[in-house]
Amino acid sequence: MHISGATAVYGIVGDPVAHSLSPSMQNAAFEAVGLDCVYVPFLLTRGAADVAAVAVRRMGLCGLNVTVPHKVDIIPFLDSLDPSAQRVGAVNTVVKEEGKLRGYNTDAPGFARSLDSFGVDVKCKEVLVLGAGGAARAVVSSLLELGARVVVLNRDVARAQRLARDVAAEMDCGIACGTISDSCLEEHMPGCALLVNTTSVGMYPNCQESPCPPRFFHRDLTVCDIVYNPIDTLLLSEARKCGARVITGDEMLVQQGALAFELWMGITAPVEIMRSKVREELGRGAQ
Ligand code: ATR
Repeated sequence: MHISGATAVYGIVGDPVAHSLSPSMQNAAFEAVGLDCVYVPFLLTRGAADVAAVAVRRMGLCGLNVTVPHKVDIIPFLDSLDPSAQRVGAVNTVVKEEGKLRGYNTDAPGFARSLDSFGVDVKCKEVLVLGAGGAARAVVSSLLELGARVVVLNRDVARAQRLARDVAAEMDCGIACGTISDSCLEEHMPGCALLVNTTSVGMYPNCQESPCPPRFFHRDLTVCDIVYNPIDTLLLSEARKCGARVITGDEMLVQQGALAFELWMGITAPVEIMRSKVREELGRGAQ
């Protein structure tokens, strides 16, 4: 990679940020397409989201990804929000458009693209989402937009109810809620076409945990885990054994990154290159 005075600088702000696969993925994309751009990680502590906006406005950063803990905090420092960010209530991509900063959320459309790349159609189907954190908000808003009937189960049911209230208000449709318990799984799993895990259960180092016992799996089910470290979570390997279809978590990561690339560059992202870079990093034990 050659960096000159003319190289365009992009990056990700977050805390922590050292584990992020976005720098490897985006730099591989820039190189593949022959762009004079570089993408770097910026460790930015909670409460300093204004600094990220100033860096884009005043230091000539060309665009940013935003991760925990700034996805909501950065909103007041932007000039406008795309409906994707409005619906989720969080920004993960900042684009400079004619000197103005616009916030987008590519997690939700990235999730939709990952379903599409596996040929999964959720229109009028029942989808069970486990978890009610930031990632769940993006997943739920995407599912509602695709016309799914959504049920959200969370350990803390009040948080699921808040998510349901906020996202449903934006999207004008209802969401059922419950706790992650045998009785709720018993009630919803038989008619469920897609199960999405957005909790951190099963993530390294707790690889022996799964948010859903295998007795609830069936052959008409697709199981998607947004945990990508490890790629083959216990949830996915048990689902595969039961004959269910699985979607691994690296796909949403790649697709949200591809959409950010496209917003910044205005050209189609080299998705295959980005996917193989992410797989290579994960295979190397990116923990
Ligand atoms: P993210 O932005 O990745 O969604 P988050 O906002 O911290 O992260 O949300 C983490 C999710 O994982 C929440 O749904 C959390 O459940 P609670 O709201 O009840 O805390 C869920 N989670 C984390 N650890 C869990 C565990 N051991 N069992 C069940 N759910 C868990």
